[in-house]
Amino acid sequence: MYDFAANPGQAKPEFYRELLGAADALTAGEPDGVANMANVAALIWQLVPELNWAGFYRAIDGELVLGPFCGRPACIRIPFGSGVCGTAAATGESQLVADVHAFPGHIACDAASRSELVVPVVREGAVIAVIDLDSPREGRFEADDRAGMEALASLLSSRI
Ligand code: SME
Repeated sequence: MYDFAANPGQAKPEFYRELLGAADALTAGEPDGVANMANVAALIWQLVPELNWAGFYRAIDGELVLGPFCGRPACIRIPFGSGVCGTAAATGESQLVADVHAFPGHIACDAASRSELVVPVVREGAVIAVIDLDSPREGRFEADDRAGMEALASLLSSRI
């Protein structure tokens, strides 16, 4: 039904423009947030290289609750302020962590994870979810990944 393909060697800003276009096409006009998170998690998993986990946590009653994802089964509930995800949710700021072992309070859901990028999804000033990407490679994520995922989070703010 949908046929998206990554283009090896593509610069990251262009890659993320295409990822955003694909996410837009997948979620436009679909009001069900779970369906949209599920398809976007699958899209990220398919197209973004070097990941061992990609998905969503939703902010519900002051804590993060596991949402649609690809990867190994993960921690279900994370208090705001705990770990990388909880820090992103509590501060409203993206967390780009080159070495998860150096992050105080990092929650190890998958022992293979070495670096992590967590981006909040904000609607009307409140964090409603976070997008969490884990990689088995230390230093996997950089500013271009953060900017690309922040653009995706902004697109999804009214669609999840
Ligand atoms: N490592 C995260 C927990 C979620 S898993 O990576 C899927 C954290 O420290 O918040």
